[in-house]
Amino acid sequence: VSVAGANASTRSHLPVSQLPGRPGIIDLGPGTVPRRALPGRELVDALAIALDESPVDAVGYGANQGPGPLLSWLAGWLPTLYDGAPTTAEILVTAGATSGLDRICTALTRPGDVALCQSPTYHLAAGHLQSRGLRLVPVADDGRGPTGEVLEAALARRPPSSQQPHCIYYLVPVHSNPTGVTVGIDRWECLVRRAREREVTLVCDDVYVPIDFRGVDAPRMPLDTVRDPLIVRLGSFSKIVAPGLRVGWLVADRALVQQLASDGLTQSGGGPSHTAAMIVHALCQSTGWEARLRWLVRRFAEQRDALTDALADALPPGLTYDRPQGGFFIWLRALDDTDLAAALPVAERHGVSYVPGTAFVLGDQAAGRRSARIAFSGHEPDTLREAARRLGDALQRARVIA
Ligand SMILES: Cc1ncc(COP(=O)(O)O)c(C=O)c1O
Repeated sequence: VSVAGANASTRSHLPVSQLPGRPGIIDLGPGTVPRRALPGRELVDALAIALDESPVDAVGYGANQGPGPLLSWLAGWLPTLYDGAPTTAEILVTAGATSGLDRICTALTRPGDVALCQSPTYHLAAGHLQSRGLRLVPVADDGRGPTGEVLEAALARRPPSSQQPHCIYYLVPVHSNPTGVTVGIDRWECLVRRAREREVTLVCDDVYVPIDFRGVDAPRMPLDTVRDPLIVRLGSFSKIVAPGLRVGWLVADRALVQQLASDGLTQSGGGPSHTAAMIVHALCQSTGWEARLRWLVRRFAEQRDALTDALADALPPGLTYDRPQGGFFIWLRALDDTDLAAALPVAERHGVSYVPGTAFVLGDQAAGRRSARIAFSGHEPDTLREAARRLGDALQRARVIA
């Protein structure tokens, strides 16, 4: 049997990817990896290696917890990102962080339950929690992340009808989406203490942990799951390899990992994204992996520099932002009552786009309107400089109109 290229009659005009691009607009909305940083040839080679080693293992149903070689590789690699070392029994391979969150919802929540959610938060995760039937109670940041006190206050605000003994708390504690903020270690430890007392499971979305511009001496988050069953850490290859592969992992208490690895979904379908996980494993254990990751992180840091430097020149007074130490995003804030949601159509007429803060701030719409998330991850430095120029012009103009 041979497989030839598709002929014209079988080609479809339906979309292939979620973000096809918008002509004439530099889109600083989505947190994507730039085209030239996506591995192409490397993935072809990795697939060939996986198939060469054992075709049956590469394309059969995958082990429930994820392929053993990838679990072992992750157990060896995660200590380079965290303070602590998980055993393979505490790791589950997932179909990305989103799927990890979904599995946690299945295991730990029921429709109608309350879920605490950091605010501002990764809007699509909040949407996902809501689509699982959960009622969100925001835990507001003070600009440096959440605290034990606000967690306590959020617990007190739970509707009286919610009798559930446990609840989950979704947060992005490191290089947050959308704010770029990382919770300091002292603050983190207070938060964990409070969560433990109140039996709250911290579901930490750590997809930006590997994208850290602070260098090797940067403080690393403790990998508490080994000693604390109330913490789950979600990771992903979406931001460091390619999102279409749908491969990620979670680290959690071994009993929870066992529960997830033996649920009905896994019993029937095997570990998710198995062949893609085998490809990722072949890529990760290749000699070029560490160098490739360092190159990628350096690249993102250069993009961060290009955009933050250009914004410093281009933005009108009254707008501020911090220089993020990792991740993909800059969180722009108006010091006055400039409405960045109303300014979006003006920006798009100037050929640049972003996501207004209203998408990420739960509840307080006024605060949301005075903020915006702009992603530096998806474009080359020259394009980012041009985007900053357009944004500066647009926001100047939007203010004149207001
Ligand atoms: C905080 C956060 N979590 C999860 C995701 C999606 O990750 P995945 O592709 O692994 O599902 C993103 C992507 O933007 C994100 O920013």
